[in-house]
Amino acid sequence: MQRIIVSAFARCLSLVASAQPYLVRQSDRDRAASLVSRMTVDEKIDLISGKVDGFWTAPVERLGIPAVRMADGPQGVRNKTRSTYYPCGILLASTFSRDAALGVGNGIGCDATARGVRIMLCPGVNLYRTALCGRNFEYYGEDPYLTSEIALNYINGIQSERVIATIKHFVANNQEYARHRVSSNVDERTLNELYFPAFRKAVEKGAVGAVMTSYNPLNGTHAAENAWLITDNLRAWGFEGIVMSDWVSTYTTLGVMTSGLDLEMPRNHVTNPDDLKPLLANGVVTERDLDRMCTHILQTFSAFGLLDLPMLNESIPEDYEFSRNKAYEASVQGPVLLKNDGLLPVKSSGKNHIVVLGPNADVVAFGGGSGAMHPIEGRNITLAAGLKSLGKGYKTTLLDYTALTADDEKLISKASLVVLSVGFNSKTETENSDRTYGLPEGQDALVARMAALNPRVVVVVNSGGEVDINPWKDKVGAIIMAWYGGQEGGRALADILSGKVAPSGKLPFTFWGSLEKNPVYAYYTQRNPHILEVKKDRNPYPFAQYGEGIFLGYRGVEHFDVEPMYPFGFGLSYVNFDYSDLSVVRAGDGYDVSFTVKNTGKTEAAEAAQVYVAPLASEVMRPSKELKGFDKHRIAGGKSVRYSVHLGPDAFSYYDTASHSWKPERGECKILIGASSADIRLQSSVTL
Ligand code: BGC
Repeated sequence: MQRIIVSAFARCLSLVASAQPYLVRQSDRDRAASLVSRMTVDEKIDLISGKVDGFWTAPVERLGIPAVRMADGPQGVRNKTRSTYYPCGILLASTFSRDAALGVGNGIGCDATARGVRIMLCPGVNLYRTALCGRNFEYYGEDPYLTSEIALNYINGIQSERVIATIKHFVANNQEYARHRVSSNVDERTLNELYFPAFRKAVEKGAVGAVMTSYNPLNGTHAAENAWLITDNLRAWGFEGIVMSDWVSTYTTLGVMTSGLDLEMPRNHVTNPDDLKPLLANGVVTERDLDRMCTHILQTFSAFGLLDLPMLNESIPEDYEFSRNKAYEASVQGPVLLKNDGLLPVKSSGKNHIVVLGPNADVVAFGGGSGAMHPIEGRNITLAAGLKSLGKGYKTTLLDYTALTADDEKLISKASLVVLSVGFNSKTETENSDRTYGLPEGQDALVARMAALNPRVVVVVNSGGEVDINPWKDKVGAIIMAWYGGQEGGRALADILSGKVAPSGKLPFTFWGSLEKNPVYAYYTQRNPHILEVKKDRNPYPFAQYGEGIFLGYRGVEHFDVEPMYPFGFGLSYVNFDYSDLSVVRAGDGYDVSFTVKNTGKTEAAEAAQVYVAPLASEVMRPSKELKGFDKHRIAGGKSVRYSVHLGPDAFSYYDTASHSWKPERGECKILIGASSADIRLQSSVTL
């Protein structure tokens, strides 16, 4: 107990310290240079690729350079261990809460050091283009600003424990289908405005320690070998940390040695001595290339203290109460209530009888691939278990949906609430393949059958993004997008269903309501017959032309004139909020925006308010609005809270392809305050 109190205190101190990230300083550069000058060529070659099971760097014992252990990410510490299972990325983005992201990152940092892991292979920040992408669940949705802010706080949380965070996958790995071959063809402005910002902010504001390149070629050149991407862009932002390849995504020795990459993972497919030494001998690759790579690795280790401190932090238990709490705090803020015909919350009463059933009712569903975790024995709380532990005033029965009997049907039809838990799992939504838009087979029919028996059905959906809800949307009383809530997800959902906590999650992507409505549909590779034809060839690469450009998601709603089913930023609560008293004042390098949000209900609830900027007189085509700020607070029933957001120069600029740089907007810009991207409550304007 004492140990937990002491380490919780240390947590607080380290979070304060997170304001000072582990930047590479001159002393780290000098130390790395000195070590490199004493390394042999063989030792240098050894250091630039992964070792053992592919999750270690190479030690150089005679120089005191330790082997550093790494693990996936992003929902907890994965490799060869059981660990706290945090909610998935799309849930974290739905919280619109920097605190939740900081807390999860910090919990993961603690869990990592408790296992001697010092490089975490997370966060994943690839933007959501299509509902089909098998890894949407790991990422933070469609908006670059929301993604950047969630990632930055998550990184700060991890790195405050002296654990290197690895932001991935750089860049434009936005689908899993044929991910090694399909070139993401993206224009310069779109890259800079949409796909780079999360990486750039992590470098400039978070001093992130490592960046992982993506599997896909970018504009025809594989990311790990793309010098334009790594050297001309990432390094130009001031990145001095480690650039590693994704697992098995390297093709040529020369490409890897000259792109700016530092670490080939998981092992030396192309940087092995047999391939490398002839190139060194004939001068195509020089020892300076090797030195540059080793220096990046060692100066980063030095900055994080890894050359001096023990890898294992013995003061933190592997099953850590602090981590469990952080997992819950995020889990309970992320589920998005899409629809509620007055069914929820179900209040405690002697008469209420909840029936829970469905394929995901008594399992903790999760997305598959490298993001899948092994939870600590006994810590997973399923939805059924969460509901059963609600206690006095609630009676819950779990039904086996595969054997429904006549008695069961009677019980359902009489239930005061039927909680139907459907959605995907690690087999049906996973890395390395894209998924179906519709729910897995048989689930639509199950929902329809339950809805016919009882009008009081709430459908709880586990997924990493939009699913086809058209077959039953109008037949059920409530719909909750629950994403993948991790080990605390069942408890968090039970607290939401019972009203102990009001839902406060908001959609981090546009819920189009059909695949075809999403303007990306026309450009999604799998639908392009040309791609299928050349599928088996490595050259020329098939491609996904990012034809929607900067008009992704809600940015495209007005541009393409398509009305989504639910807009970006949308999510219901159990109360209503009034917005008033907007003030926009010039302050420092930009504007201070503040406004009052009043909870007009009787019970406490949290509201995530969004600040959009809409330039009216731009010289270039701009989306009609862009998210540039958000704030979230818990507000007691009947009370008000003042919200505030600072809009800096970033909020008022666009990427200019003529000068290859960001250019400030001129003229009038609207400042829009919304409960969602489509529900603008207050507005003002500034003249730049
Ligand atoms: C994934 C990475 C992951 C790596 C190691 C790859 O398949 O794309 O995100 O970090 O495996 O597990």
